[in-house]
Amino acid sequence: MADTQSKQWHAPLFDTLTALQRSNPVSFHVPGHKYGQSIAHLTGMNDNAVQTFQSIMRIDVTEISGTDDLHAPSGIIQEAQTLAAEVFGADQTFFLVGGSTVGNLAMLLAACRPGDLVIVQRNAHKSVLNGLMLAGASAVFIMPQKNAGSNLDVLPDISQVEEAMAKYPDAKAVFLTNPSYYGLSIDLEPYAKQIHAHGMLLLVDEAHGAHYGLHPAFPRSAIQAGADAVVQSTHKTLPALTMGAMLHVQGQRIHTLALADALRMIQSSSPSYPIIASLDMTRAMLQAYGSDLFEQGIHAARRFRAWIKDQSAFETIIVDEEQGRSSAAAIRVDPIRVILREAHGRLSGFDLQQRLEKYGCYAEMADLRYVVLLFGLAASDSDVDRLQEALHAIAEEIEREGLKARENVEMPIEHHRTMSEPVVFTRSGVQHASNGTETIPLSNSAGRYTVEAVIPYPPGIPLLYEGERITEETIIYIQQLMEHGARCQGASDPTMQTITVLRTG
Ligand SMILES: Cc1ncc(COP(=O)(O)O)c(C=O)c1O
Repeated sequence: MADTQSKQWHAPLFDTLTALQRSNPVSFHVPGHKYGQSIAHLTGMNDNAVQTFQSIMRIDVTEISGTDDLHAPSGIIQEAQTLAAEVFGADQTFFLVGGSTVGNLAMLLAACRPGDLVIVQRNAHKSVLNGLMLAGASAVFIMPQKNAGSNLDVLPDISQVEEAMAKYPDAKAVFLTNPSYYGLSIDLEPYAKQIHAHGMLLLVDEAHGAHYGLHPAFPRSAIQAGADAVVQSTHKTLPALTMGAMLHVQGQRIHTLALADALRMIQSSSPSYPIIASLDMTRAMLQAYGSDLFEQGIHAARRFRAWIKDQSAFETIIVDEEQGRSSAAAIRVDPIRVILREAHGRLSGFDLQQRLEKYGCYAEMADLRYVVLLFGLAASDSDVDRLQEALHAIAEEIEREGLKARENVEMPIEHHRTMSEPVVFTRSGVQHASNGTETIPLSNSAGRYTVEAVIPYPPGIPLLYEGERITEETIIYIQQLMEHGARCQGASDPTMQTITVLRTG
């Protein structure tokens, strides 16, 4: 097992906050909890709540002497961000307190002026569409490819990107999402070269790949492949606090001042110090332990995949790592993420997720077919034992209940349509259309234009964005999702029996 003992860390931001705490400061400033003192005497309350919050409140400071300012860094935050840029191979790194969500918004706000065009992979997170809307930009959507074995989406083929760039030579940027929520990715270097040859920016949502490039078993990162700006959710696969993320920049194609400006606009003027200190701590751990940090999680996921091979009731999606290294366009699966399904179509991903929860195993996400399990850097042998015991018990349940295969359900991506016409995203939007709107049964909505987005969460990829024409396939897919207990954001009727559309005529 890896040597993860007794290393020295250097974390300027985290170290300053803990030193401040040790100096017994008297707070005459916000936040009102005063390093937890304001709740310390409330012992009549739930003691556990006081203790739990106090440990975080001790480092929950604000901009006072020595603690710098995230929006105009010149001290410990600047140093922490510079150290992070070194570890992640960027020229400049911004710490984010609003997740990859604000990183996506900022990239689009910085790269686009109103009316600019961006070539966007269709299965993007909703924050990308919101970014386009805030920027007043238009999008040409290009469709993801399907991975044959799993039928899951991966990056659009490079020829599609080329076709879109040739047809829309004035586009400012290409916006790609890699890896997918399922952990499928393709090396971005050929994309970066081609996109730069057209004088466009490559912007990448790498929310699920903050660990990429940090261990030889992982695919290389988008920055290593040549992207101009990349967001990573450090809180997703690395040990930062929730909402802790980073925006990495490389080269001169995107203006860092414009990014900083956008971030000042969309992030709180009181950013959370525990969150940015956790980003600093994560970087310090990576520097101190290097790739050793991931050995345990990689080992656990390998052990689980090997076990699954002998289980007739379940299977995992495997794309060969060696094949991935030898072929540039090969699809890779994240080594510390497992895509699991019941092998004979008797349980949907949602069913399997619920059954796992009965045994105390909580998955990252499920869909109609798959459950996604994040092993991360620290899954242990005993975690794997728990999971295997749970699956063993579920296999017995399936047999006992005599379950039969369900109808095969697939995501209705329109493969014949590889590129959309430009779609204008404006904040004034379709809701204020002159003809007005009406709410109708979803089942009767084919051919109409929705005024609300329909976003199953997770994964947060809009099935319909505001203003999109509704197709029969999409209706069936939404109905199937709802039957299996999916949750949809964005829509005014959370049961999705009805949908609000533009009036016709
Ligand atoms: C592909 C993708 N991009 C961006 C985000 C937003 O990330 P965050 O939750 O860090 O804001 C998500 C969230 O799940 C995502 O799946």
